[in-house]
Amino acid sequence: MFNKNKLLPIFTAVSLAVAAPAALAKNFKMALGDAAGGTQWEMGSKFAELLDKKTNGKMTVDLFPNGQLGNEQDTVNNAAIGLLDFSVLAINNVTPFSPSVGLLTMPYVIQSADEAKLLTQGEIGQELVENTIRDAGVRIIGWAYSGFRVLTNSKRPVKSPEDLKGLVIRVPRNEIMISAYQAWGVNPTPMAWSETFTGLQQGVVDGQDNPYITIHAMKFNEVQKYVTNIRYIFSLEPLIVSESIFQSQSPQMQQTILAAGKEATEYSFNYLQTTEQKIRDELAAKGMVFTDPANGEQAWIEKVTETVWPKFYASIGGKEKLDTALAVLGR
Ligand code: MLT
Repeated sequence: MFNKNKLLPIFTAVSLAVAAPAALAKNFKMALGDAAGGTQWEMGSKFAELLDKKTNGKMTVDLFPNGQLGNEQDTVNNAAIGLLDFSVLAINNVTPFSPSVGLLTMPYVIQSADEAKLLTQGEIGQELVENTIRDAGVRIIGWAYSGFRVLTNSKRPVKSPEDLKGLVIRVPRNEIMISAYQAWGVNPTPMAWSETFTGLQQGVVDGQDNPYITIHAMKFNEVQKYVTNIRYIFSLEPLIVSESIFQSQSPQMQQTILAAGKEATEYSFNYLQTTEQKIRDELAAKGMVFTDPANGEQAWIEKVTETVWPKFYASIGGKEKLDTALAVLGR
């Protein structure tokens, strides 16, 4: 858990460093776990463009894709202690630092992009933003919407959870996702995102799950052939800012950062709508083979909702948090 007191000397040094006169130009750094060209890149670039425009070039942001500034979970730590300004990363890589955001990766809760928008932009989203500041020392200022995490593997078409038997599947270091695969009958391999392409290429793992746009940006089609269109998690990728760096900005600058984050979020939502199908077609043209889960995904859904949900009620803040989310979604 994030402990501000332990980090006090670093915080003080960073606060002094960034408390320069507001008129001075400032160049920020933004980490991206994914390669250039995916939803993280689109959202981050739009934010950088907006911030530059809104501050007449006084505030600029350089993007560092491909985990150049550390794997996604490391970027949360680095932002918390003020060593990094911004990061766009998958929400599942924030959960270890702020467990209540696990609500957004509870399998089969979010069933469409509109539902993802409803949860992130309403009261529930606001509460998760506040929890993340408290727990992890970072502030979520926007969301990239990346689509459902589909399952890929290099060996064979997978239709049912039983077909996973014998496949080694990589998952992020995320307890909810590990439990989901266990409910489907296999023991997945937790691996950092930055190591995943190599892991797949060298056959250390046979498969993984991520959205079509991410698979395309990361060129996973070069090392994976079969795609199963499961819809267990809708990938949400928050844009986070170091809370200490945010607090060291003038109130006007804070408002500008928040406004740019909001606009970049809207842009990301539209980007997904206009791009996802096109990217899926491109993956098919590059030789990926798509399979729909058997019987409308029923077995996949039942196994996780029965066993995984109850296991994580406590970490998301109680069963009532999930009930509230489901009520907001009209279920
Ligand atoms: C992961 O699988 O670790 C992440 O969800 C990948 C990503 O950030 O795109």
